[in-house]
Amino acid sequence: MTAWRIRDLQPHDLDGLLRLWDEYRRTGAEPVYALNEVLASTRKDTAIVAVAGDEIIGATVARAAHDQGWVVFFAVAQEHQRRGIGRAMLSAIEQRLAPLGIQRLSILVPDEQTQVGALAKAGFADKRHLRYFERDVPIRHDELLLLRELGGRVLGRDRWDSIGGMQREKRVLEQRLVLPLSDPELADRFGVVPPRAIVLFGPPGTGKTTFAKGIASRLEWPFVEVFPSRLAASPKGLAGELRETFERIEGLDHAVVFIDEVEEIAVRRGGEPPSPMQGVTNELLKLIPAFREKPGRLLICATNFIRALDPAFLRHGRFDYVIPIGLPDADARRAIWEQFVPEQAAAGLDFDALVAATDGFSPADIEFAARKASQVALERAVADNGGAIAEGPTLDDFLAAIGETRTTVSAEVAAEFRDDIETIARL
Ligand SMILES: Nc1ncnc2c1ncn2[C@@H]1O[C@H](COP(=O)(O)OP(=O)(O)O)[C@@H](O)[C@H]1O
Ligand SMILES: [Mg+2]
Repeated sequence: MTAWRIRDLQPHDLDGLLRLWDEYRRTGAEPVYALNEVLASTRKDTAIVAVAGDEIIGATVARAAHDQGWVVFFAVAQEHQRRGIGRAMLSAIEQRLAPLGIQRLSILVPDEQTQVGALAKAGFADKRHLRYFERDVPIRHDELLLLRELGGRVLGRDRWDSIGGMQREKRVLEQRLVLPLSDPELADRFGVVPPRAIVLFGPPGTGKTTFAKGIASRLEWPFVEVFPSRLAASPKGLAGELRETFERIEGLDHAVVFIDEVEEIAVRRGGEPPSPMQGVTNELLKLIPAFREKPGRLLICATNFIRALDPAFLRHGRFDYVIPIGLPDADARRAIWEQFVPEQAAAGLDFDALVAATDGFSPADIEFAARKASQVALERAVADNGGAIAEGPTLDDFLAAIGETRTTVSAEVAAEFRDDIETIARL
């Protein structure tokens, strides 16, 4: 057989590398690293080939990650196996990575790959007790840049779960939004058209923003908040800026687009003199039909004053659902209390009493009462003995603070909200 030798991979070797890749795939082994990853590593990291004459008969590609090196591709042509080529390539790649400071070289090998003798001979230990897990990150690389420009981001996966209580609201959103949007094919089989735009309404501080972000996190779609009233005033005007923002959002495969306090721009038209926001309102009304045409995106508008909205804004065909988000129920209040009570005060604290005493409180009211109790306890500790004994606020401190807190949502506003649910909500 022809003599072989090892050298660095050169650009014209790519054909040979691809042949090895195809052959490797034909053995039935699914490579751990995708081809584009391997090719990226051939350009940016370390790659060597074994050649016999003009023919590429083996290749090894690796990258260094801090003090660990990873082999991302390792193959020897079938008919050249058992000639010590694999072992020689591993030794050569290690030599090239060593100056980068790696302390360990690792290779992930699919179960189907039978030819692993070279690895043992080259001194690699078979770590059979390890298992490999992977997950696809739900955003394309080129979307990230656009997302950054739009001020959007991908939210952590735990947001939805961390919304305490509110089972009814969560169930509605889960069924009406998440289900059809995350599985459009299933929805289609049942003739369900996935929603494209919704309105969340409710008194201030009830969790509308929290839910909007929760939905994005649940869908694993990027979250983009648009601030129509804050768009830079430019020659194009606010309306032009808004249009341009929506055009750019089209570049994203998926997105939850959020407009908070939409009443600021969508107030009833026809005031005299006309509101400077009129043009923006009209523009938004024009933008929604186009936005609705493309799948994979959801517009969420939130408002504290649903009755102030222009009736044309809420018309059928624009928004699929108009969903009330009410004051936190007992479970939600418990979750919010748990968030704000300091750790050393939480042990043994009667949370049931706090939950019962804060019926009608918004999350912000609970936060206010919790902070106040902490402050009182701190002042007392310092006055008594210089703060030496770090006893946190007690149940009495919390109950006293609750007694002194005026709720944001008055009985009147709560009653209006119930009326709005009757007359405006659409589920
Ligand atoms: N169900 C909930 N569980 C835990 N925290 C909540 C819940 N609802 C609201 N909060 C908290 O209450 C605060 C106000 O909620 P937010 O979503 O901003 O209200 P809104 O947008 O309706 O004015 C936020 O700090 C949020 O984290
Ligand atoms: Mg909000």
